[in-house]
Formats: sequence, C-alpha cells, structure tokens
Amino acid sequence: MSGTNPRLRAVLDDIPAYVPGKAAAGGNGPAFKLSSNENPYPPLPGVMESALAAAGSLNRYPDLAATGLVQALAERFAVPVSHLATGTGSVGVAQQLLQITAQAGDEVVYAWRSFEAYPIITRISGAKAVEVPLTGDEEHDLDAMLAAITERTRLVFVCNPNNPTGTVVRKAALERFLDRVPSDVLVVLDEAYREFIRDPEVPDGVELYRDRPNVCVLRTFSKAYGLAGLRIGFAIAHEPVAAALRKTAVPFGVSQLAQDAAVASLAAESALLERVDALVAERARIAGELRAQGWTVPETQANFVWLWLGERTLDFAAACERAGVVVRPFVGEGVRVTVAETEANDIFLSAAASYRKELDR
Ligand SMILES: Cc1ncc(COP(=O)(O)O)c(C=O)c1O
Repeated sequence: MSGTNPRLRAVLDDIPAYVPGKAAAGGNGPAFKLSSNENPYPPLPGVMESALAAAGSLNRYPDLAATGLVQALAERFAVPVSHLATGTGSVGVAQQLLQITAQAGDEVVYAWRSFEAYPIITRISGAKAVEVPLTGDEEHDLDAMLAAITERTRLVFVCNPNNPTGTVVRKAALERFLDRVPSDVLVVLDEAYREFIRDPEVPDGVELYRDRPNVCVLRTFSKAYGLAGLRIGFAIAHEPVAAALRKTAVPFGVSQLAQDAAVASLAAESALLERVDALVAERARIAGELRAQGWTVPETQANFVWLWLGERTLDFAAACERAGVVVRPFVGEGVRVTVAETEANDIFLSAAASYRKELDR
C-alpha cells in the first residue's frame, strides 16, 4: 500500500464552503435566528398531519415520480406534468441544472453578490463562474450580464428577488434581457422568494417561461411555505430541460414526508399566504424604521432586508447577537436580516437604533 491519497478533482480545491446562517444559541445567548431566511411560523396543522401520516411508512421508499405533488403543481401553475421536476430543495435542483448544462470549459454567468450557492455549485460542475457585479443600487446589471455571455456560456442565473439584497428585476428589463440571450443558453429564474413580492412590475417567471424554451423557473417550499427542514423544491421548464432534470435526480431524494407536506401546503395555501402577508407588513415596518433611524436600505421584495455596513459588518452582527438576534453577516459588505416574529424584529430594530446612535455621535 502506498501512502498516496485517492485522486480527487482539482476543481474542488478552491470551492468556498457554504456558510449556513448561524443558529440562535438559547440559554443566555441570542434567542432568535434571523440568519437563514426561514419562515418563523410552524407548519399549518393539516401539513403536520400529512407529514406525520407519511412518517408511518418510513420503511418504504418514497414515490420516485412524486406523482401526487407533480399533479398538484401542474394544476396550481397550469403547466404540463412533463414540465415539472422536483428535487432536494431548489438548491438541489439548481445543482442538477448545472449537471445537465455545464462542464469544464463552459461558463456560467450570474450577478454578484447573489445566492452563495451559485459559486459553489458552478465550480463543482467544473465550469467557470463569471460573476457580474450588482449596480450601485444593489440591482442586477442586466446589460453587463448580457455583455458577459460568450459562446462558452451555458447557463445564466437571475435571482429575483436577489439574495441577499432583496432587489428585483422588473418585467420590461427582464423581457428585453431574455430576448437577447442566445436561445441555446439556459436562463434560470430563481424565484425562491416569489410569494413575498408585492411590486406589480415584477414578472412571474412562470408566465415568461411559457413561450421561451430556454427559460427555467426555480421555486421552493422552504421559504413562504415554511418547509425548509424537509428539503423540497422544483423547477418548471420545457420538456427537454425538465426531462434532463428528472434523469439527474438522486433516486428517491425527495422523501414522502416532504412530498405529502408539500401537497398539504398547497391545499392550505390561502392560510399560508395570510402569514406571508403578515411578514410583508413586518418587512415594511422594519425597512421604514431602519430608514427613519438613518440607514440606507434597498427596496426589498423578499423576506429579508439588506444593510450595507462595509468594514463595520462583523461589529454590527456582534451587537445584534448581544441584543438577542443572530443576523447573517457577509464580511466587509453588510448584513442580511430575515423578517421574523414581531418580538425578534423589535429586538433587531432596537439593536440597530442603538448602533446608529453610537455611529452618529
Ligand atoms: C435565491 C435562493 N435560491 C434557492 C435557495 C435554496 O432554497 P432551498 O434549497 O431550501 O429550496 C435559497 C435559500 O436560501 C435562496 O436564497
């Protein structure tokens, strides 16, 4: 036996680790976690019952085709069943999207800063990540993204609203962009936070995909639907893309618990969306109060707000922790703060106010 290690792919060497939002410590530590864009509400009663019933069959593999869920989604979005593919969270589906389009020598274009999984899953595929800086207003620079597309580009992510800034791409700009992207490049509209959008100018990706074979919409049950722990998301795309996604899925990756809870969540949609309305109202309150305190807060259409803090980022995050809430710092840039239960939001607002007073002194 020699002492050499198994040969691993060299592209893995410089892949950044995914940094999960820090948990609330409990005890004397911070009581509330505002660091992962989770939904603060527990699942609705019907959802819990479906999941518990499915737990009775944990000795069985789940339905590979997620038949019941796919049927419910097809009806909900008025799309053919063949245009749907489910996965282990929308990040799982995003990774499959790279598997079906990109390899070494190819390029993947996305805005930066954006969802931190994009650089990771792009590099795992072996393709080169082409990161196009956000504009000064923290928005996608669609013209620069168009200019970054080459004959090697295979996939473009548009995160709408963008994580972590909450900013959006509006209809006219997105349509103009889609009309100009070469038709053999897949454009992924990542709409993880779609249900929180209240700006009527923001298009529904599902309407845009209908007559565009190179557009794929990503959605998740993790955010508005509150099922982050069950790992279930899906794509809506034309047949060749959706079929390729189904081919690359980890067999039985989406548990029956997840499938049945998702179906029950769709059935309980009006009650769920009332909760989303409450979070949207809290979002307006938080953004309004922060601006009144003197912060610059970009207009957000997601379940979080973004505060640009530059070199003060970690200091601010530590001050929030001392007050009892964990936020998500991006070193040297800013913090993303999830809209949560009122009590947690109040703690955050008062920590932000104290910090601001110190700064303005
Ligand atoms: C923009 C965006 N897309 C996708 C996801 C992945 O969510 P999930 O894998 O839980 O569906 C997230 C989660 O934070 C996100 O912010």
